[in-house]
Amino acid sequence: MTTLIAKKKSARKGTAAKKKALKKKVFKRRDGAPKSAKSKLYANLVVQLLSLLKGEHDFIANASNFSALLFNSLPNVNWAGFYFLQGEELVLGPFQGNPACVRIPLGKGVCGVAAQQCETIIVPNVHEFPGHIACDVASNSEIVVPLFDGERLLGVLDLDSPLLGRFDDRDAEGLNELATVFVAHEEGLGL
Ligand code: SME
Repeated sequence: MTTLIAKKKSARKGTAAKKKALKKKVFKRRDGAPKSAKSKLYANLVVQLLSLLKGEHDFIANASNFSALLFNSLPNVNWAGFYFLQGEELVLGPFQGNPACVRIPLGKGVCGVAAQQCETIIVPNVHEFPGHIACDVASNSEIVVPLFDGERLLGVLDLDSPLLGRFDDRDAEGLNELATVFVAHEEGLGL
């Protein structure tokens, strides 16, 4: 199994430490997109997300639009959405894609492990991840980004792809930035 685990703090700060941590990837890139193109795509998505969120503070509406933006803008993604922490388990939130399992205990599946470890996890091949929870048989790779309000875990952002090795360090950086923008906008809503 080859899995990239980017530490929470380094993945969220945009610092040299972050770049160093993300450089420790041990997976092989297979989606073929040039890095610069991917960076531009995520920069554009930040602008689009800010536009979608502007003036709107309904949490369900914003989370729904965020998942739709990711699902429709990122190539080769067959599931994009949220799980939010309730007690000791993650509960399905707004998403795009096939119906998915509703409750994931902390420490179970890719989502539960990412939430428990407070780390972004990239899984190049979900069939090699012990305990992976298969919600869509078409999924072959996955990325899970924890959502934080400061140090408090709110839940995770989860994306699946039918391609092996679809997600890399640029996706981790881009999705962490988008998640930070989203949470910052929703702050004060008592998530
Ligand atoms: N594969 C995830 C479960 C959620 S679905 O992918 C939507 C996991 O292993 O946690």
